[in-house]
Amino acid sequence: MATALIILAAGMGTRMNSDLPKVLHQIGGAPMLIHAMKSGAALDPEQIVIVAGNGAKIVEKAAKSYDPDIHTALQKEQHGTGHAVAQAREALKGFDGDAIVLYGDTPFVRPETLAAMAAARLTHDVVVLGFEAADPGRYGRLIMKTDQLDRIVEYKDANEEERAVNLCNSGVVAAKADTLFELVNAVGNDNAAGEYYLTDIIGIARSKGLTATVVRCDEAETLGINSRAELSAAEALFQNRTRQAAQEGGVTLTAPETVFFAHDTVIGRDTIIEPNVVFGPGVTIESGTTIRAFSHLEGCHISRGAVVGPYARLRPGAELAEDVKIGNFVEVKNAQIAEGAKVNHLSYIGDAQIGERSNIGAGTITCNYDGVFKHQTNIGAEVFIGSNTMLVAPISIGDGAMTASGSVVTKDVPPGDLAVARAQQSNKPGFATRFFEKLKALKAKGS
Ligand code: UD1
Ligand code: CA
Repeated sequence: MATALIILAAGMGTRMNSDLPKVLHQIGGAPMLIHAMKSGAALDPEQIVIVAGNGAKIVEKAAKSYDPDIHTALQKEQHGTGHAVAQAREALKGFDGDAIVLYGDTPFVRPETLAAMAAARLTHDVVVLGFEAADPGRYGRLIMKTDQLDRIVEYKDANEEERAVNLCNSGVVAAKADTLFELVNAVGNDNAAGEYYLTDIIGIARSKGLTATVVRCDEAETLGINSRAELSAAEALFQNRTRQAAQEGGVTLTAPETVFFAHDTVIGRDTIIEPNVVFGPGVTIESGTTIRAFSHLEGCHISRGAVVGPYARLRPGAELAEDVKIGNFVEVKNAQIAEGAKVNHLSYIGDAQIGERSNIGAGTITCNYDGVFKHQTNIGAEVFIGSNTMLVAPISIGDGAMTASGSVVTKDVPPGDLAVARAQQSNKPGFATRFFEKLKALKAKGS
């Protein structure tokens, strides 16, 4: 059956105490809204509607940067979750399939759980995702009658007996889109909060003779984020899961609790990651590489057999071919480094290409920026760049060429040549000896 996602993301998020809409706060380097979209993607949705309100423009922009085909529905004033769902009606006009409601602040629902809900929809008109809460707190309570879900009671409106129930509402609901909008239409706001509760659709559905059931999941999946403390708890949960998944995927993490992943980090088998490595977004690492301690990687691709770090920084556009070595205190940005090349110590390589098996000496810098424009450095194959060479871009160094240490290279170097660009050395015979004798004599006189 064709599926549409309705993701609720209009709320204020008052408890975040932030200028940023709640759903744009990040976990693993991506807005929590993107996490919700990613879990929903498991259902291969035909349409995705984001219901936005607070910060609607930037919420829409963030969602579109992940999936340009999404629709947004504007909920100008937030009158509750039922009212929010109703705003998606226009965007889904003529859609003939199931709709699943997700929350933008509930990022961890697993694909398998959504698949179980889709399966339950084959036998029931409305399916709600629920969980047994260790501490049910202020969650809505799921009230069962024999094998059917009979209604949902919000905490604020619940009596003692209902509050004692610990089967809780996650907020995720699935129904035929037409049915969902028809039910939402019938929801009123005569309750403790004066809001249009999405949760009321269950009681309404049952009174119309429709069937309703609950699919249960683990409480950790339905973790909702309302405060900075909950955001950091969610980050910790995300990191733990991702570390575990990396290990199950055949990656060695020497000290897993010190390694931080992004939402899209991809790492091949038999890679070793030493302690205190941080991944920003957009990193892919092939099998059999080693990432040594205290390295920071973002937007880069590392091929088989490469060794990075310790203390290396790879920035967006760093592309390392097989068996490349990047050593300590080396920064690489927007640069392609070909097979077997080495940049082992204290260098900046930006806007550059380095050919196969070239060796870049300690302290080499590509001077890529003139204060206004960025310029390119091209280094051929089997080049030897002497230590402490400044390569003033735009510049090309031909295959098999060499630069003398300490050179400031401003002109292209043809293949096979040596470039020397530094002051000539002159030695002054005996000068040092005479100089120090004079100074020591002065000191002995006590002056
Ligand atoms: C809701 C459920 C509750 C459930 C809990 C799970 C209702 C009435 N209650 O309560 O049963 O246990 O979630 O976390 O549905 N939103 C809008 N527009 C609005 C109101 C909310 O887009 O007018 C969005 C929010 O941005 C948020 C989501 O809907 O992403 C949930 O809203 P929230 O106010 O946090 O609902 P809860 O009170 O937590
Ligand atoms: Ca909430």
